[in-house]
Amino acid sequence: MTVKELEKLLSEMSLEEKVGQMVQRVASEMVSGAIVTGPEGIVEPKKMSLGLIGSILNTRGAATIHDLQKEFIEKHPHHIPLLTMYDVINGMETIFPIPLAQGCTFSPETVEDCAAMARDEAAAEGLHVNFSPMLDLVRDPRWGRVMESTGEDPWLNAQLGKAMVRGYQKKGNMAACLKHFAGYGAPEGGRDYENVELSERTFREDYLPAYAAAVKEGCAMVMTSFNSWNRIPSTGNRWLMRKVLRQEMGFDGVLISDFAAIDELIRHGIAEDSREAAKLAIEAGVDIDMQSNAYMNNLVDLVRSGEVDEKLVDEAVMRILKLKNDLGLFENPYNGSPEDEKRLLLCEEHRKKVRVAAASSFVLLKNEGLLPLKKEEKVAFIGPYADNCNIHGSWTYLEHPENNVTIKQGVERKIGTCTYAKGAYVLDEGQKTRMYDPEERAVLEEELLREAVELAKTADKVVLCLGEHRHQTGEGGSRASITLSKGQLRLMQQVAEVNKNIVTVVFSGRPVELGQVQAQSQSILMAWMPGTEGGNALADVLYGDAVPQGKLSMTIPRSVGQVPIYYNCFNTGRPNPTGDRVGFIHGYIDESTKPLYPFGYGLSYTTFDYSPVTLSKTRMGKRETLEATATVKNTGSYGATETVQMYLQDVKGSVIRPLKMLRGVQKVFLRPGQSREVSFQITEDMLRFYNADMIYTSEQGMFRVYIGGSSDTENAATFTLE
Ligand code: BGC
Repeated sequence: MTVKELEKLLSEMSLEEKVGQMVQRVASEMVSGAIVTGPEGIVEPKKMSLGLIGSILNTRGAATIHDLQKEFIEKHPHHIPLLTMYDVINGMETIFPIPLAQGCTFSPETVEDCAAMARDEAAAEGLHVNFSPMLDLVRDPRWGRVMESTGEDPWLNAQLGKAMVRGYQKKGNMAACLKHFAGYGAPEGGRDYENVELSERTFREDYLPAYAAAVKEGCAMVMTSFNSWNRIPSTGNRWLMRKVLRQEMGFDGVLISDFAAIDELIRHGIAEDSREAAKLAIEAGVDIDMQSNAYMNNLVDLVRSGEVDEKLVDEAVMRILKLKNDLGLFENPYNGSPEDEKRLLLCEEHRKKVRVAAASSFVLLKNEGLLPLKKEEKVAFIGPYADNCNIHGSWTYLEHPENNVTIKQGVERKIGTCTYAKGAYVLDEGQKTRMYDPEERAVLEEELLREAVELAKTADKVVLCLGEHRHQTGEGGSRASITLSKGQLRLMQQVAEVNKNIVTVVFSGRPVELGQVQAQSQSILMAWMPGTEGGNALADVLYGDAVPQGKLSMTIPRSVGQVPIYYNCFNTGRPNPTGDRVGFIHGYIDESTKPLYPFGYGLSYTTFDYSPVTLSKTRMGKRETLEATATVKNTGSYGATETVQMYLQDVKGSVIRPLKMLRGVQKVFLRPGQSREVSFQITEDMLRFYNADMIYTSEQGMFRVYIGGSSDTENAATFTLE
């Protein structure tokens, strides 16, 4: 339709119909026809059947969605199709690594490829909108949703967020919805839904850039966040939505609330009732009310009584109609088909891709000679993750998790056999998770342990497969302690007493405390939640058919007391270079200030050497470009990919500046002995920040450029910005 035709359609719609476009409900309410009680009262499904709804969420399957759509369009007074939305956070049926692990690939190409796969499978199932990417910056691993983020770095998150938007939207049949605007990743104490208190400077400089980058990339939708930022809940924050998002970032797409977030304004304490909540939200510019009753029950009346200008409703509906039109819904409201599902879901091509993606997301933290394994070695695979198919992120609703390949299966396929003992359960008896997901406890723990220790005695090497339960992370999955379960640590202790050759593979949705793992393992591989092909990808890496190349997208603390902990922090007036000096110096008396492993860190089976950084010049004018170069050499015996990282430091500013800021990444493959010059272009816009007067600008003076394989590199050269 042309804009004129859309405007005509809008002008012909009744106020009720227009408000209907702004209402989103879970589809099960429509299918069952049941009366549903929401937080603020009762929703009458008959209202929905009159067409007073514009989109649905959380239903999948082409046949189901098409039936629903067909009936709906017939009944709708203007036959306006529904938008169908879903959280395809790490794949629909072919599951790829969780976003935090995708962050560890440092590879926009891989991330875009995964997003494209998710798009194809989701579109095949009849969906139009993906509630992804989540671009909340994360610095506190206690927060359960760190698994949904690509990590702690504003620049990397921006690159990967853009890649996801491209992947989802490239074919024009699916819209991306970035979330959660804004600052949801910094809840106090890591407690989910907690308030966020950040200075406007930190908010703008660290937290907003990734969202802004995705908006610039053309992301069609934005979702508000549950949290309040500096005491104003986002969903009712007019300044944040109208000024920052729409005016400053130039977002002209559809803004949707998070689940029931409009009515939650009442509990936040900024609205007296649902009516006031609806008024606040529409004034803030929220176009769609996801699942609360606020718009559905109040907006018509608010307009009729003159409390809300109908213009606000018209603007919102126009944006929604435009999105439907852009996605081609007026021509063909039926994405996908059962045939497409058959062809695409879990297809061979997708499985191959996620196997490679998973292998490139694993981070080798330590390797004192045990990896890679050799086929002729006698290796015992021990632990609750050695033969566990629940290795998909918490945002995946698989009917058949047994489609996921376990390590044991992967190893059997690779070398024909795998010696295995479970050794422990993932969770201790009674340990809570965010969702009920029964763990079968068929054998006594003591028996499991005994069997595993006996096996460990007979092996050359032990691969201990430990981790968090997948429902210990995700929404509502915050933890006050970030350790592995007692049962697993006891297993590790007892295995270590009989066999020193331990490789530990860690499955988790967050950085976990690894003190004991670090002390008792010769090698450690972070596998995160690797998804469908996890076991095959792990077998590839463990046996050296693929070489680890992942780099940490989030710092691993030594202990939970250190969090929040992140690499791009400040020097303070009393820096503590070693991290463990005491006496009126920055830090703790009972813990180092250094993390166990920093952002950007990750080993390979080979080693890389970096030449000193050279610069094309040492003085740079504001309109000039400077080139920084280092030669990277593969000094080991495996062909491997290195993730070359470029960091900048603004040595002196009108406000304190981070010690390092990632501003460039290049992945290079080098054969043994091969070297390559790697260059980065530095331009003035990379040096801007919010100065003492809150003006976004660069300041003259000295800068340091670091090039290395981790954020703790010291390989630097300096230049002056004139
Ligand atoms: C989450 C969102 C999600 C939405 C819809 C909410 O609880 O915070 O991230 O997109 O539900 O499922």
